[in-house]
This record gives sequence, structure tokens and C-alpha cells, in this order.
Amino acid sequence: SIYSISALIAAYLLGSIPTAVWLGQAFYGVDVREYGSGNAGATNTFRVLGKKAGIAVMLIDIFKGYTATKLAYFIGLSVTGPQNSTQFVNYELALGVIAVMGHLFPIFAGFRGGKGVATLFGMILAVNPSAAMLCVLVFVTILLSTKYVSLSSICAGFTFPIATVFVLQSSIKSEVLYGICVCLLILVTHQKNLERLLKGKESKVYLFKKNKT
Ligand code: G3P
Repeated sequence: SIYSISALIAAYLLGSIPTAVWLGQAFYGVDVREYGSGNAGATNTFRVLGKKAGIAVMLIDIFKGYTATKLAYFIGLSVTGPQNSTQFVNYELALGVIAVMGHLFPIFAGFRGGKGVATLFGMILAVNPSAAMLCVLVFVTILLSTKYVSLSSICAGFTFPIATVFVLQSSIKSEVLYGICVCLLILVTHQKNLERLLKGKESKVYLFKKNKT
């Protein structure tokens, strides 16, 4: 329907909001893509502009994925069936993934965006809050012990499908399938990080000390 197509377009535009770029330019006169890892994401904003800016970008990027996914309600449950039906969850996940595509390739910032971690997390939070909490647990544990955000993101990405299959026994197969896609997507967007990790050259992020790179 016209509603479902409008929602998909809205999800892309929402994901396209280049939070890191706009916030950096507006408040610090800096395009974060010219510094640090060159990524337009929360981690690099934290690295380049500090804790406050990094946390703001993270929250807004999570919100983008969450809201885009929840746009599913706009098309009316009459189209997809009840909230826990496979069709509804599929539509939610499609909206979330499109928002992530917007984040990776933002129309408002020359199609040079981020790596999709926060936005993907927003999507997971919207469809499966318990799985999202397990992802956070893994993310925080790896981050505190290794100081590598990229490694934490990759491990959290793997946690999503594993959590849906084994821990939460999700009956919705598409969620598992999407989970596997999420892992692969994170691996693709973190290729350079993976290379640096393997060479021992990835930059560490210290949450509680002075920001170092
Ligand atoms: O949020 C993306 C993170 O996993 C890595 O970011 O800037 O270190 O490449 P960055």
C-alpha cells in the first residue's frame, strides 16, 4: 500500500540523518569524518569530540533505528496481522534494515555515513528487547576488558542471532535470518577495523580515563 511504501521511504530518510556529521559541524565546527577512524559514528565522535558528543550521537542513532522500526505501526496492523505475527516482524525488520542503509549511505551527507552499530541496536531493541539486553551485556563486557569498540560491536552482532535461537527460542524464523544478516553486515562494515585488530593496530577507547586514541 501507499502507507507501507511511505514508511519505507521515511525509514531511509530517518536513518540518513547524519547525526555525527551534523552535531560535529553545528557545535564544534568539525566534520568527524576528517579525523580519527574517519567514521561518522558515535565511537569516532567520542574519539574526536569527547564523551558528551559521543553519547549524544549514540543515543540519537539508536533512536533512529528504534523509531524507524516502530514505523511498522503506522501501516496499521490490519495489513500485516498481529504484532507477533511473522509478517509484522518481517515488516519491522525491513524498516530497521532500511534505516541502517540510510545510516551507512546517508542522502544528507554525500552517502558517506557510519557503520550501523547503534542504528542496528535500535532495531533489535524495537523487535526483541531481551535479545538487545544480551547484546549490551556482551558489548560492555568486551569493551571493558579489551577497550576495542569495533571488537565489542562485532561480538554483540554475533550475540543477536545466537540469543534469538538458543536463549530466547524465538519462534520467528525471519528474526534469526535477519540476525545472521546483521552479523554479516557488521563484519562487512568493520573490515578495516578487523584488519587493524589482526595487526594489533586498532585504537582503544577508554571510557573512564582521559580520551586517548
Ligand atoms: O560504531 C562503530 C565502531 O564499532 C567502530 O568505530 O570509529 O572505531 O571505526 P570506529
